[in-house]
Parts: sequence; C-alpha cells; structure tokens
Amino acid sequence: MILGIETSCDETAAAVVTDEGQVLASVVSSQAGLHARYGGVVPEIASRRHLELVAPVIREALERAEASLDAVDRVAVTQGPGLVGALLVGLSAAKAIAWAKRLPLVPVDHLEGHVASLYLEPEPEPFEPPFLCLLASGGHTLLLAVRSHGGSERLGTTLDDAAGEAFDKGARLLGLGYPGGAEIDRLARDGDPEAFRFPVARVPGLDFSFSGLKTALLYAVRDLGEPVTARRKADLAASYEHAIVRALVERTRDAAKQSGLDRLAVVGGVAANSALREALPDARFVSPDLCTDNAAMIASAARFTEALPYPRYLGLDAYASVA
Ligand code: KG4
Ligand code: ZN
Repeated sequence: MILGIETSCDETAAAVVTDEGQVLASVVSSQAGLHARYGGVVPEIASRRHLELVAPVIREALERAEASLDAVDRVAVTQGPGLVGALLVGLSAAKAIAWAKRLPLVPVDHLEGHVASLYLEPEPEPFEPPFLCLLASGGHTLLLAVRSHGGSERLGTTLDDAAGEAFDKGARLLGLGYPGGAEIDRLARDGDPEAFRFPVARVPGLDFSFSGLKTALLYAVRDLGEPVTARRKADLAASYEHAIVRALVERTRDAAKQSGLDRLAVVGGVAANSALREALPDARFVSPDLCTDNAAMIASAARFTEALPYPRYLGLDAYASVA
C-alpha cells in the first residue's frame, strides 16, 4: 500500500492507495473557508494550518482504509510545484514517517499527480496512455502529450493567468465566494451564456491567455453598475464561464489535430466544471473530488515514479515552480 500526502496549496490531504491503483481512503481537508476573507490563499496561514492538520488527516486516512502504518510499504508526497512553506509541511511529515518505518519515499510532481488521477481504479476503468491531456487548475493550464505513465511532453501552456485563476478572479469581480470556480459553475446554470460576449485572446501556437478576459469582465461590471450587475449576475457568470470553456476547448481540439492524439482527458480543479464536461463529451474526466487537489492522485503517480530508498530522501527539498 502507498500512503500519499499532498499539501501544495490550501488542501491538506492524505490517501491510501494499493499498488493496483485502488483508492482505499482519500481524505481532503480544505482550508478554503480560512482564506475566503482574503479572496485568495495566504501562504503563511496555509503553512500553519497544514502543520495542525497533517497528522490528523494522515491518521484519518489510515483509519478509513482500516490500515496501520505497518501495512504501508512506501510514502508518496508532493515535492512541488506549489507554496514552498506549505509543501515543506507535507514533505517533512512524509520524511518523518518513512524514516521512522525505514520505508522508501517517492517524491511526486503535483502536475504528474493530476495526470495520474486518470490511472486510479474506481473510475469505470483506468485510462491509459497515449492520450492528449488538458490540465487546468488554479495554478496551471497545460496541454500535455502523455505517451507513457512516466511523463509527458508539454504542447502548450498559459502565457499569463491559469484557467482556474480566471474563474477565481472573475468570481471575485462578481462578489462571489472563494474559491470561485465552483461558485461560477453553480450560478452559471441559471444564466444565459450568450448574454454577454467576452473576448478571449487567441495567441499563436497552442498556448492560452486569460488575463484579458478578467479585464473585460471588470469593464462590463463597471459599465453595468451595481444594481444591474447584481440582477444579471447569473448571465455574467454564464457568459464568462462560456468564454473560458470555449478557449480551453478550441485549443484542445487544435492540439489533438496537431499531435495526432485522438484520445482526450481533462484533469485538475477546472475539470470539475460542468460546462467544460458538457463541451467535451468525448473526453475522459475523473470524478470531481479527484479533479481538485487530493492525495490519491499523488499516491497514484508514485506507482510510476522511482522511489528513493531509506534514508536517501532526508535531504530532499521542495520546489516552488515548474522546472
Ligand atoms: O487542482 P486544484 O484543486 O488546485 C491547483 O492545483 O491549483 O484547482 C483549483 C482550481 C481553483 O481555481 C478553482 O476555482 C477551480 O480549480 N475549480 C473550478 C471548479 N471547481 C474548482 N473551476 C470551475 N468550475 C468548477 N466546478
Ligand atoms: Zn492541483
């Protein structure tokens, strides 16, 4: 069994996954409520909260899996990218457990973790390479050619904001809660996606750009004024969501054509979005709780990543950004 630990942002998560990719337990403690009043994640607050939560969350995952630490044969942990202080809490916990039990440790890249959510078992059946993967989260928007379990080739990325970030910033402009993606998703169901036209910049190649979109929403909200904005909030949310989804779908279709990869998967927090799921009916999506940050995907990635034997991992450091 693999014990997975994830603390890269504002979710403290632990999971127990078998070598075959079966999720025995996946516990996610979200700090979203703690950061909501600031409209985004405050790194120092996140680190401190991880410190309080990491041990109980790991204990809870083991309990739910009805497993003791003795049944665990390796520990997987997110090494980066993410908030360094937050990552260090999970990494230190993982090192301590692995060291105490003389176990190997598997450092996992968070983005490879998102991709590996596709290889978990409770889905209809695990999705296997080769495929084209759209990874859309709060920090990243990537098009990846995944040709083996071990890694992927980057075909495109965002030049500015990530898709999830665009959702979060748009939600903030509309006075919705944080994190905003799920809020816009919910509100947009009652709105008309054609009510407003928000332009999305088309940049060359297979890259994305979302920063102009939030400016367009800002101007729309300013022009409409407060009472009208409040009355038409659902239409604004639906139209804004529609613009993000359209940009993601168009580029993904371009990438499929160019790469010759005809099987398609979408992972990351934004993959939980219902409009995106509807717009890509031929793509594989994992269940929404495996789209947003979790530790089951980290343990899943560890199945295909080289483990560091005891005690070679003790000097391991976290990394903040994509290498
Ligand atoms: O993968 P994730 O949990 O964390 C990162 O690695 O960033 O993604 C979080 C992002 C946030 O920006 C959040 O607003 C967005 O995913 N998100 C959504 C939905 N649920 C979460 N965006 C659109 N629709 C949703 N239903
Ligand atoms: Zn993530």
